[in-house]
Amino acid sequence: MLKRIYSLNDFERPARKKLPRQLFSYIYNGADDEVSMKNNRAAFNEYVLMPRMLAGVAQREQKIELFGQTFDSPFGISPVGLSAMWAYRGDVLLAGAAARANIPAIMSGASLIPMEEVARAAPNTWFQAYMPGDAARVDALLARISVAGFKTLVLTVDLPVTVNPENYQRNGFSSPLKPTMRLAWEGISHPRWLLGTFGRTLLRHGMPHFENWRAERGAPVLSATVERDFQARDHFNWSHVRQIRDAWKGKLVVKGLVRWQDAVLARDAGVDGIIVSNHGGRQIDGAVSPMHVLPEIVKAVPDLVVMMDSGIRRGSDVLKAVSLGAKCVFAGRPFNYAATVGGPAGVDHAIQILKTEIHRNMALLGINRLEELDDTLVRHVSSLWPARQAAMQSAGHF
Ligand SMILES: Cc1cc2nc3c(=O)[nH]c(=O)nc-3n(C[C@H](O)[C@H](O)[C@H](O)COP(=O)(O)O)c2cc1C
Repeated sequence: MLKRIYSLNDFERPARKKLPRQLFSYIYNGADDEVSMKNNRAAFNEYVLMPRMLAGVAQREQKIELFGQTFDSPFGISPVGLSAMWAYRGDVLLAGAAARANIPAIMSGASLIPMEEVARAAPNTWFQAYMPGDAARVDALLARISVAGFKTLVLTVDLPVTVNPENYQRNGFSSPLKPTMRLAWEGISHPRWLLGTFGRTLLRHGMPHFENWRAERGAPVLSATVERDFQARDHFNWSHVRQIRDAWKGKLVVKGLVRWQDAVLARDAGVDGIIVSNHGGRQIDGAVSPMHVLPEIVKAVPDLVVMMDSGIRRGSDVLKAVSLGAKCVFAGRPFNYAATVGGPAGVDHAIQILKTEIHRNMALLGINRLEELDDTLVRHVSSLWPARQAAMQSAGHF
């Protein structure tokens, strides 16, 4: 099966085939008209490569230093909630694959496996939280994350309220899932998922719950009546970030910023890094794509570790984002499709594909080290126009 998967994009089709419609929709769909989701991909096309020839590229090296640690590649795995619903033991699987490849992985706070188990299996994993704007509950959750052994905490700040569920509702997805005839039919008609993932999980571990949403166990993932606790998320503000900075001894990262002004506030609040992200086009539709704002953000906070996600699918995308100043990039959907389709071997394969593409593209672009990426090798397409116009003018074309 994996033999016929040549690029990250190739994982999507078999994942769609394997999963009930409700679950595939939850991974795939963006918000509203999916304008931001589509723009995330289109934004990469606005940057063009200017390959340098005969530079001698036999010494290629894609390792990076991040928060005092060396990683083998400049990309990692974004936090994705509910992953244990489409891949057996999803959170452990994704974190384990990242550990094998020595790349960063971020475990979601909307996950279904207790954080302590993931921290034991892959101690270098980062933990992502959706904090409530309520000091006592923030403290309780922080204490649990710290005792579990996580060293890097990621605060996702771009979802103060739940997203417009329209595209999920159309496909029958809700969180928790409601036991309906439609869901039962989708389960029965996707037996590889029903037996290999969901049934196996139920048998061995019982009904999955939102284990890490708060300090205490949350709602089950399948229920006709239970509602999830989304209280006070819209109260969360910069004062809570400062409270967390004072209490959290490890590295602190804020994920979900697209404005340079917010990057400055994050730096002033004492965070160690930010992830520029529009959540893969899943929050406010029309939100700008990270690639469009990376340069101004890097310029506004030159001493902060700036990372990004949303739309990364190719080694060339990684090189483009790094050339704009991202220290590391992350991808969400592709690694989750890979986990769905191929389990641990699938995620290993996905990581290897991206790594190989970066290695090859570094040679084709004419560099040995990522630090060599600059605005002579990667340019915004608009920067070509004045030069082209001037050249055409002087050649008498107009
Ligand atoms: C199914 C799904 C669930 C997600 N859950 C979370 C989450 O729990 N926490 C979070 O910070 N981001 C979450 N995200 C956003 C990702 O971390 C990431 O920003 C996004 O997937 C990047 O875009 P990409 O999928 O185009 O790579 C989720 C994304 C998807 C696709």
